[in-house]
Amino acid sequence: MQVLQNRIALVTGSGQGIGQAIALAYAQEAATVVVADLNEKAADQTLAQIRAAGGEGMRLVVDVSDMAAIDRMVSAVVQHYGRVDILVNNAGIHVAKPFLEVTEELYDRLLTTNLKSQFFVMQAVARDMVRRGDGGKIINMSSVSAEIADPGASVYCMGKGGTQMLTRSAALELACHNIQVNAIAPGTIKTKLTPWYDTEDAVEYCRKFVPMGRFAHPAEVAGAAVYLASDQAGYVTGATIVVDGGLMIQ
Ligand SMILES: NC(=O)c1ccc[n+]([C@@H]2O[C@H](COP(=O)([O-])OP(=O)(O)OC[C@H]3O[C@@H](n4cnc5c(N)ncnc54)[C@H](O)[C@@H]3O)[C@@H](O)[C@H]2O)c1
Repeated sequence: MQVLQNRIALVTGSGQGIGQAIALAYAQEAATVVVADLNEKAADQTLAQIRAAGGEGMRLVVDVSDMAAIDRMVSAVVQHYGRVDILVNNAGIHVAKPFLEVTEELYDRLLTTNLKSQFFVMQAVARDMVRRGDGGKIINMSSVSAEIADPGASVYCMGKGGTQMLTRSAALELACHNIQVNAIAPGTIKTKLTPWYDTEDAVEYCRKFVPMGRFAHPAEVAGAAVYLASDQAGYVTGATIVVDGGLMIQ
């Protein structure tokens, strides 16, 4: 059974990595997928993979750190498909910098791309969901870094901590509109965001500190995103699914 039939899903940052895996998994579950990414070529490739597998969708080139671009993106989806049933707020960046060296420019860039964008994409989509009156599902990409402080990643960790509280706050206010807002907190997932996982040291770190002893594939995060977008998760809101091979239970 395909669990997302007749749903319109908007997935930001779906040109590669976790977002791409979610876009492909949603298409496999028969959702129509809007692939939204800053990188046009990457977005085209995801859409081509969706279509090659018999799925449907469109792609939008968007910078989610730009407020006007957020409005254009949501308007374009609503104009084209009439609504958004599922939003995955996934686009994000990571820049490592020791706390004492963080500049205002880096601080603003990281928090604007990773947190402010999630707030306002969610607001634009939720306003439309409320107007239509038949609910919706919103999934924000958090991280184990919301709970575990990483050296050299103070601003990234702050942003993900913000995602957690944003998720709970929005879930509380939107529950009466039947809009569910949840988060996913991935652990060590091998993508282009994390090139340092390609080193022997990182493999050793995983063996030592991740109970399951390995990195995860983006598709293993996509499974949680399918569940949260489906009717199976009909009474789940304000929650975070941790996908970390056991890292955080220690
Ligand atoms: N990889 C991990 O280990 C890991 C762990 C925890 C959380 N996460 C989170 O998962 C999400 C996806 O990460 P990933 O590992 O797949 O990264 P990635 O770098 O592989 O993919 C991120 C995608 O987002 C797009 N993007 C970046 N800035 C954008 C912007 N301003 N507007 C639109 N698109 C933009 C990129 O072009 C890219 O396609 C991020 O929010 C990240 O913080 C990743």
